[in-house]
Amino acid sequence: MTTTYLITGANRGIGYGLARLILARPNTTLIALVRDPEHETSISLHELPKAENASIIVLPYEAMDPDSAVKAIMTVQRQYDINHLDVVIANAGGMSWRGPTVSVPASEIHDSITLNTISPLLLFRASLPLLQAPSPHRTEPAKFFAISSGTASLALIPSTGHARTVAYGLSKTALNHLIRKLSTEYTDIVIELLTPGPVQTDLTRAFPEFRDLAKRPEFASRLVNIDISVAGLLRCVDNARFKSEGDEGTHGGFRDYSGATVPW
Ligand SMILES: NC(=O)c1ccc[n+]([C@@H]2O[C@H](COP(=O)([O-])OP(=O)(O)OC[C@H]3O[C@@H](n4cnc5c(N)ncnc54)[C@H](OP(=O)(O)O)[C@@H]3O)[C@@H](O)[C@H]2O)c1
Repeated sequence: MTTTYLITGANRGIGYGLARLILARPNTTLIALVRDPEHETSISLHELPKAENASIIVLPYEAMDPDSAVKAIMTVQRQYDINHLDVVIANAGGMSWRGPTVSVPASEIHDSITLNTISPLLLFRASLPLLQAPSPHRTEPAKFFAISSGTASLALIPSTGHARTVAYGLSKTALNHLIRKLSTEYTDIVIELLTPGPVQTDLTRAFPEFRDLAKRPEFASRLVNIDISVAGLLRCVDNARFKSEGDEGTHGGFRDYSGATVPW
């Protein structure tokens, strides 16, 4: 039995860490959607160690292009004859602007929402037929995850507000709304939001507080090691489940890499 995963933004950061762990699992097919399959970061995906019967397919995906997810799924079906997906992770995302809320350019809000909110919706829509496709080997329900952020949490704004990430935060809060809503409309797919915690990746290294950590020991102590984060996220993927008798389940929820519930 092969488990088929699809991850966007698999060539760097959190997505790359997840790809590495997934390929270390036997009987796995990983469909890695990346912006540029010829970029050295994407080529390096092919060199990751693979467990027995684990394989990777790297396909182009541009989250800002509304047709990209559909094209990628068509290629998966037509070129690779893959007709079901077990796990889809909408991970690609980014933050391009920071500053005081009052100064945020409207275009930054639009771009953030296109990237961090609309592209996961389009990925969900495109992959839905393959998530719902019957698979003779499926022992668990199909699962769809969107990688959110602590900045999405309205409850945490008093402690995250200093981060000056209003465009990004709005887009991730909107993502939470979208995914939670989808979880009420689809009861055959486990749908959930996950957040990696504050991790040093190219995304966060762009910002001053994530550099010179020696000068900021208190902040440094709150960062999560990327290996711990991705291992925790994959545990969340594995144990994501519907509610059942005596178990609240995780469907429709918002958890961090440690499995802890994040307040809305
Ligand atoms: N790191 C953190 O502390 C943190 C905290 C909370 C949430 N997150 C979330 O975790 C996810 C991964 O972030 P990361 O920290 O791993 O960042 P990263 O290292 O900057 O990686 C971002 C990934 O997303 C891809 N991507 C960005 N824009 C894209 C586009 N328009 N089309 C296709 N792919 C695109 C990038 O591809 P290219 O290589 O082509 O640019 C890259 O693979 C994001 O959703 C982010 O919001 C991260």
